[in-house]
Amino acid sequence: MYYGRPTSESENNGRPVMPLNKLKEIPADAILGLMTEFQTDPSSQKIDLTVGVYRDDQGKTPVMRAVAAAEKRLVENQVSKSYLPPLGVEGFRDAMRLLVLGPLEASHAERTAVVQTPGGCGALRVAAEMYLRTHTGETVWLSEPTWGNHRGLLGAAGLALEIYPYYDAATHELEVDRMLDTLTKVPPHSLVVLQASLHNPTGADPEPQVWDELIGILAERNLLPLFDIAYQGLGDGLDEDVAVVRSAAERLPELLVAVSCSKNFGLYRERTGALLAIGSDPSQKKVLESQAANVARGMYSMAPAHGPLIVEEIFSDHELRQLWMEELAEMRGRIRRLRSEFAEALKAERSDLDASWLTKQRGMFSLLGLTEQEVDTLREGQHIYMVRNSRINIAGLDAESMPVVAKAVAPLMR
Ligand code: LMR
Repeated sequence: MYYGRPTSESENNGRPVMPLNKLKEIPADAILGLMTEFQTDPSSQKIDLTVGVYRDDQGKTPVMRAVAAAEKRLVENQVSKSYLPPLGVEGFRDAMRLLVLGPLEASHAERTAVVQTPGGCGALRVAAEMYLRTHTGETVWLSEPTWGNHRGLLGAAGLALEIYPYYDAATHELEVDRMLDTLTKVPPHSLVVLQASLHNPTGADPEPQVWDELIGILAERNLLPLFDIAYQGLGDGLDEDVAVVRSAAERLPELLVAVSCSKNFGLYRERTGALLAIGSDPSQKKVLESQAANVARGMYSMAPAHGPLIVEEIFSDHELRQLWMEELAEMRGRIRRLRSEFAEALKAERSDLDASWLTKQRGMFSLLGLTEQEVDTLREGQHIYMVRNSRINIAGLDAESMPVVAKAVAPLMR
């Protein structure tokens, strides 16, 4: 990772070099930097397809109705803001375990440690620190491409980063054979990050039979999967989107699962997430909980309470939970509709272009397959913002922006 080259005294005009004085400015984050650039762009024509936040037809990232109702009750009834227990809000931890494990809850709860974390990012980082404490390996394997911050979060923990092939941007298809072949050569006990569904940035997920084969490789080689679940419920459904995690929990002795409530509860800024650590037998649960709590204590002491209390409230009330599931279904439906409409809009611009892959992919993201230079030109010339690897947030499109984006990108697509 590049943190900047330290300044020498001679470069500092002879002044003494103090520790903070040695730090250099580094480039803004690949995603958040563009989000900020968009916000300060004065153009009235600007279109934001950068950061992965859900948007409705009005271009807003709404507070979900179930969340607003739960929040109102919390504010009315709260009696204290004292510290939480080290593992977090109990009802929230139960809800996360239930959402991920579903029908396996009864058989696996005894083996599953759950710790509340500051978002899915916090969960990934706690997982990395726990893995390093096992002293069984120091390497994490990431899909190529993957979400940019996987590198930052896991690399900063001290893990060496390796990649396995995942997606071919030229064909818009997964590289199944190369991926499985690479994983068969990964050293035993390595950590392997797998996005359970709605892969960021590609939107392309393995078919069930590919997952099946992949889990077989993990089992054979004693690899430890770290499933990243950031979009449960926004693809095919709450159960469907975590099917691979359940299947892994049935077949593997150990797994780690990082869960985020940013997108499916719309709790982005409340930093609401959890790490599930599933051990090989119930005696491990307390060990894993104590380790997770100790890692958290050493990094940030404990996660914020507000988001988890909202989720607990939703899960403790049948009507609120139903409302949340309905809203999630609406969001899921909108994203799917936008995918079809965008594929059609591209076709309308260029009849030779087959963009049907957009409708096979799932979730908020797809890679258009443009060069960084083309992406920069779109941003600078037409105020259309996307991540420089040409990832777009499909949910950022609306009736007004879609034809504009289609017209601008169709001629560039291969
Ligand atoms: C994204 O990929 O855009 C989101 O997950 C937001 C982030 O933190 O990068």
